[in-house]
Amino acid sequence: MTQVRPRTLLAFVALFFTWSCLAASIKSRGSAGLFLDLADLGIDVTKRQTGNLAGYLGAFFLGADPYVYFYLSNGNDALSFRALNKGQPVIRPTKGTTGVRDPTIVPGGGSEAGKKWYIIGTDLHIGRTTWDAAQRTGSRGIFVWESTDLINWTGERLVTVEDATAGMVWAPEAIWDPAKGQYLVHWASKFYPTSDPHHTGNPSNIKMRYAYTSDFKTFSPPQTLIDKNPTNIIDLNYLPLAPNNPNSQSFLRFMKDETRKTVFVEVSNSGLFGTWTRPGGDSAVIQSGVEGPASYLDNLNPSKVHLLLDFYGSDGYRPFESTNPGSNSGWVGSDRGNFPKNLRHGSVLPINGTVYEAIRARWGV
Ligand SMILES: *[C@@H]1O[C@H](CO)[C@@H](O)[C@H](O)[C@H]1NC(C)=O
Ligand SMILES: *[C@@H]1O[C@H](CO)[C@@H](O)[C@H](O)[C@H]1NC(C)=O
Repeated sequence: MTQVRPRTLLAFVALFFTWSCLAASIKSRGSAGLFLDLADLGIDVTKRQTGNLAGYLGAFFLGADPYVYFYLSNGNDALSFRALNKGQPVIRPTKGTTGVRDPTIVPGGGSEAGKKWYIIGTDLHIGRTTWDAAQRTGSRGIFVWESTDLINWTGERLVTVEDATAGMVWAPEAIWDPAKGQYLVHWASKFYPTSDPHHTGNPSNIKMRYAYTSDFKTFSPPQTLIDKNPTNIIDLNYLPLAPNNPNSQSFLRFMKDETRKTVFVEVSNSGLFGTWTRPGGDSAVIQSGVEGPASYLDNLNPSKVHLLLDFYGSDGYRPFESTNPGSNSGWVGSDRGNFPKNLRHGSVLPINGTVYEAIRARWGV
């Protein structure tokens, strides 16, 4: 396993600064055109935005172990990761079911950008319940931890976000909504009629629900975000295509069709609540037999997107990639030679050299 030495990091920083200056003279023509510009001209106009990124921090749970495990990339290789903390969890929940699945690192937005991060996740320890009970009378809360340095995670809380008619709250994630100036938090739930308070009968299909928050302590009343009735939808994951441009309206969203057990992508060039289209039509998919899509932009090639897909019946996450990520076709399996096996639904966050070194120093082996 390679380790990035400070001198190598300095060289990277210097190199990217040079690229930044070159790229600064190339004016982006706005959000909608940005992606096309890249493809048409082959110019990395976003290099100035990604220039000081030096690696990736991954947070996952492992099959039988519902805790938060950290993995750090080997330098700026988006496909090469090693376990931190000698493979032991970095966070173990003490509340609720005492198990957390689907941990996701949420980067701060607005005044918290670059200063605050949250980890949120599903309150579910499947070893202590059954899949049936977990969906009828499962937790209606989400786990939350927060940090100002991505190392010291404090303030564990379990916050109820869903109505009493909901059977569960699964795979919460959040994204800063620049139009609203708050975090858009979303999760999957199914619902029972008010005449069935013990949730013994037939539920609704599974929908994506959402609420807004500024602090991950208080949340607005939940509302429906995506309902493809009668199809069940879970595991929603947004990717801002220009994360450092607060005016960008271009987003991808990956999700799992829990009825057909497939993952597909939708595209919006008009914001989070704009018009979403599914490229290739209603039956177009990226992959079957997978769940928990976790997308991240490549630090070195801004037109490349990585997508982790959880082969839940097999060996967990496998990386896929595309340079045309707003399409359901064209995704290819990446080199898995240095990608750990049996990682389950989580997330990957690009980080700069300062953060990379601090995390390595704290949790590295
Ligand atoms: C790296 O990111 C951290 C957290 O946002 C920030 O405090 C720090 O200034 C950044 N360092 C560099 C060299 O950009
Ligand atoms: C961790 O964060 C908490 C809350 O901000 C703070 O009180 C504590 O001193 C921090 N610990 C370390 C080791 O930085």
